[in-house]
Amino acid sequence: MTLEERNQQVRAFFNGKIDTYDNVHSEYMKTKVLLAESLDKYAKKILDLGGGTGLELIHLFELFPQAQVTVIDITENMLEKLKTRDFAGRVTTICGDFFEVPFGKDFDAVITTSAFHHFKKDEKIRLLKKILGCLKDGGQFINCDLIALTAEEEAAQLVDLENNIGYSKHVDIPLTIENEIDALEKAGFKQITSGNGGKENYGLFIARKNISHIS
Ligand SMILES: C[S@@+](CC[C@H](N)C(=O)[O-])C[C@H]1O[C@@H](n2cnc3c(N)ncnc32)[C@H](O)[C@@H]1O
Repeated sequence: MTLEERNQQVRAFFNGKIDTYDNVHSEYMKTKVLLAESLDKYAKKILDLGGGTGLELIHLFELFPQAQVTVIDITENMLEKLKTRDFAGRVTTICGDFFEVPFGKDFDAVITTSAFHHFKKDEKIRLLKKILGCLKDGGQFINCDLIALTAEEEAAQLVDLENNIGYSKHVDIPLTIENEIDALEKAGFKQITSGNGGKENYGLFIARKNISHIS
């Protein structure tokens, strides 16, 4: 299955989950809140990749009421739900695939949560390079995502992916912390840190484009 086909499978999956998504993900609020809490204080122009129904933006707009947020997401039903939130007027939504849609430029920060564990490492490096290109110098990339706890788990999920052809449900293929960091380094990010992402199997990764601003 190609990356494009897998991304369409992800889209079909989330389009079908819209009635239950927010309830299921209320358990994951800590993983979402960490994004806003990790942002530089001056952050204003923010790109949220895979923002879905906007759960991470609830806390973000409390902390950053002046933020201008762009959300790119492939799943139209998720974005329709986001558009019903009271902060929707402060969000620009773009419905499309990360690998195809132009990101724009000069963002203070790019954030993402629970959205990048659908990509193989080489695909992720490609995406990270695209993110680097849309950040201001010193800008932040913050990713809170599912991780593989061991190299064996990472490898096993890749095997599941290869065996998944023809099935309707997408397969999660999270990387280990070490591979997440290596992907960020290979893409050209600096000042990379990692920590717990609010659940045992979630990692929080923060990295910068070049030099850091005073936050
Ligand atoms: C688990 S949801 C997370 C939504 C939100 N960030 C949250 O934490 O509640 C993953 C989101 O990533 C989006 N997504 C996954 N792969 C994508 C891709 N290739 N391009 C654009 N959006 C994608 C999905 O459509 C979905 O809305």
